[in-house]
Amino acid sequence: MDRTEIYSRLKSAEGIASLLALEDFSPVYREADRVRKEHVGDTVHLRAIIEFSNICKRQCIYCGLNRENKDLPRFRMSREEIVKTAAEAVAAGYRTIVLQSGEEDGISKEWLGAVIEDIKSLTVPGTEAAPAVTVSCGEKDEETYRYLHERGADRYLLKHETADPELYNRLHPCGTLESRVGCLRTLKRLGYETGSGFMVGLPEQSLETIGSDLLLLASIPCKMAGIGPFISNPKTPLAGKPNGDPELTRRAVAIARLLLPDANLPLTTALSILSHEELSKDGTGIGHDVENPFEFGANVIMKKVTPDEYKAAYEIYPAQFAETHILQDRKDLERMITAYGRRPL
Ligand code: 5AD
Repeated sequence: MDRTEIYSRLKSAEGIASLLALEDFSPVYREADRVRKEHVGDTVHLRAIIEFSNICKRQCIYCGLNRENKDLPRFRMSREEIVKTAAEAVAAGYRTIVLQSGEEDGISKEWLGAVIEDIKSLTVPGTEAAPAVTVSCGEKDEETYRYLHERGADRYLLKHETADPELYNRLHPCGTLESRVGCLRTLKRLGYETGSGFMVGLPEQSLETIGSDLLLLASIPCKMAGIGPFISNPKTPLAGKPNGDPELTRRAVAIARLLLPDANLPLTTALSILSHEELSKDGTGIGHDVENPFEFGANVIMKKVTPDEYKAAYEIYPAQFAETHILQDRKDLERMITAYGRRPL
């Protein structure tokens, strides 16, 4: 398949579905890697993510944090704990702090704004710059988004989860796709670097749905996009459903790179978890069509720096996370990235 043919298929959801279904996807991976190198270079950006509260008022039926899950011990870190964790991450070399939580009304904009201001008063070692702050706390009103931006929030992540409005409604008794996309447009208008994303392998999702997901990212257009496989959580209504396919997820990321050449595309945590399972199953490497985890378009890694006492309770999907050692973990990541021929930042 030549480049002209690849690009002509990117124009519609059906065309994208036909790419995702290719027997041999390697021409698309090659093109995604070329575009990645041309537009964002060999740098892999490391982000430190602090999951500071797992309290959530929503009922998203795939997510372990949904309010119906009564088995989950709920926590909210204090302002001091969050800022201390952020300061350690910045001292270790992270230039971006991601503040993520469930969607809850107990977090006032003033409190979160103060946390952001504290973090923005830190300095990245070897520079005179403050770290960038990304917020990922769900749907808020315009006034709140504006306030947080004025306090220093640079970026906002709000995944649309699925671009199929009916599937969206089945998965979210608590909201609509329209409202979600409305938030993304508001964030963009307010001047945030805006990120969205979706899950691959949701029950009843078709390849055309993934095509629509990718076109939605391009229509915003997003500066960041997190694309990860669905992982079934036994404590949710989607218990026992099959997990998303890591290979299909990587294909979706590669197409995102073609549609959004300058975007920051993380290798999502969920993808690395399933890829590890793949690895232990067949021992062939991190992927199937790709050997290098940075060869399909991704250029960002988000690393949890959430303190151990809270990490286990931030159980969106079941996973075993190793203990957090902020400085050592960062060094290990830098070594891994360098070994793959990329430049960690
Ligand atoms: N599997 C994979 N990803 C999930 N998320 C929530 N639940 C799951 C799951 N079961 C993702 C959603 C959400 C982000 C915080 O985690 O995309 O936006």
